[in-house]
Amino acid sequence: MHLRFLELEQFRSYPRLDIPLPPSGMRLRGANASGKSSLLEAIVMLATTRSPRSGSERETIRQGSGEDLGVPPFARIRAVVERRHDSIEIEIGLEVDPGRAGLVRKSIRLNGRKVRSIDAVGQVKAVLFSPEDVGLVSGSPSSRRRYLDLTISQLDPSYLRALSRYGRVLEQRNSLLKTLQRERIDPKGALASGQLAFWDEELLLHGCAIVAGRVRAVGRLGLLAGEQYRRLSGGSLDVGYVPSLDLLGLDDSRRDEPGLVQTIVRRGFERALDERRPEEVRRGVTIVGPHRDDVAFVGNGRDLGVYGSRGQQRLAVVALKLAETELMTESAGEAPVLLLDDVLSELDLGHRRQLEDAATRIDAQAIVTGTDASEWTGSALARLPGYLLEDGSIVADSKPSEG
Ligand SMILES: Nc1ncnc2c1ncn2[C@@H]1O[C@H](COP(=O)(O)OP(=O)(O)OP(=O)(O)O)[C@@H](O)[C@H]1O
Ligand SMILES: [Mg+2]
Repeated sequence: MHLRFLELEQFRSYPRLDIPLPPSGMRLRGANASGKSSLLEAIVMLATTRSPRSGSERETIRQGSGEDLGVPPFARIRAVVERRHDSIEIEIGLEVDPGRAGLVRKSIRLNGRKVRSIDAVGQVKAVLFSPEDVGLVSGSPSSRRRYLDLTISQLDPSYLRALSRYGRVLEQRNSLLKTLQRERIDPKGALASGQLAFWDEELLLHGCAIVAGRVRAVGRLGLLAGEQYRRLSGGSLDVGYVPSLDLLGLDDSRRDEPGLVQTIVRRGFERALDERRPEEVRRGVTIVGPHRDDVAFVGNGRDLGVYGSRGQQRLAVVALKLAETELMTESAGEAPVLLLDDVLSELDLGHRRQLEDAATRIDAQAIVTGTDASEWTGSALARLPGYLLEDGSIVADSKPSEG
C-alpha cells in the first residue's frame, strides 16, 4: 500500500503542508528541527490513531494553533492511501476542548465518515524505525508492552477490543480492591459477596484474550526477528514473551493451537488470582495479569537489555521491526509503508547497508529521513526520489546522492 497524498494542518511545527508522495517513497533531507520526525509521526498516527512519541497528544497540536482564527487549538492530518483493492481517505482531527480543562477530542474519518478509533486502526499499515526505538530493548517493560499492544492491534482488531475492555475492568477492579482494603474485608468474604468474583471473571475473560494474542504474536515475531538478526549480524537473537503468569505446559511447538493456548492461559490466570488474592486485597491493587508482562531480548545467550552494546540493541530492534513488516505483509497481502527516521546514521556502514538492502527487498513505499545527502551515497536507497525539507515546505532536492 502507499500514501498518495499527505496533508498536515497545525500539526507540530507545520502551519500547513500538502505533499504528493511517489509510490516508491522518498528520501527526505532536512536540518535538525526541520520537521522530519513530525512528518513520520503524522503517518504513524494515521496507522495507529496514536502518537508513537510518548507524552500527550496535546503536544502534537501546533503552539499558537487557532489563535488567528479565534478558535480553540486544533490539528488535522489527512492522507489518501492506495491499497491493493481500493483507495481510502483517512483523516484525524484533534481539538482542544476549552470546556474540559484542555482535554483533547479526537475525531477520525474514513472516506469522510466518522468512525471509532477501533475501526480506523490498521486501515493504513506503517512500520516506523526511529532512533528512540532502542529504548524498546533498554527501557522499561511498559514500553515493550506498549509496542506489543500497538503492533498486535494493527494486526487484529479483536485484540484492540480486549485491550480497551481489560483497561476498564482493571480500573473497576482496582477501585473495588481499594474499598476492600479500606474496609479491611477479608479476601474470602470479599469473594463470597460476589462483586469481586464478577470482576475476577471479567479480568479473566479479556486478560486471557490479551495473553493468548501476545503468545501467538511474540512467537511469530520472535521467529522472524531471529532470522532477520542472523542476516543482519550473523549472531543469534531470541525474542521471548515473559508472561507474569505461569503458563505451564506451553511450549513453542504448541503455540499455534488456539484452543490449547486459551486453556493453558486461563488455568494459569485462575491459579495466580487464587494465590495472590489476599495480597491484592491487602495492597488494594490488581497484581496479576497482562499489565505486568514483559518481552525479553536475548542475543548470543545474553540479555541485551542489560549486557547489549548500543549497536546490538539497535540491531535487535531493527530485526524486530523487519519481522513486524513481514507479519503485516502476510496479514494485509501487501507491504506496509516503511518509515526510516534517521536510523541509518547510528549504524556502522556494514550494518547500514544490510538494513538498506533489507528495506529495498521489501518493495514497499519507503520514506527515509536524514540530515545529510552523503548518508545515502552508495546506498540502495539512493534510487528513491530526493526531497529537501526547509522552512516547513518540501521541494525536490537539488543535491543528489550518487548511488
Ligand atoms: N506542538 C508544537 N508546536 C510547534 N512546534 C513544535 C511542536 N512540537 C514540536 N515542535 C517543533 O517542531 C520542530 C521539528 O521537530 P522534529 O522532531 O520533527 O524535527 P526533526 O527534523 O526530526 O529534527 P532532528 O533532525 O533533530 O531529529 C522542532 O523545532 C520542535 O521543537
Ligand atoms: Mg527527528
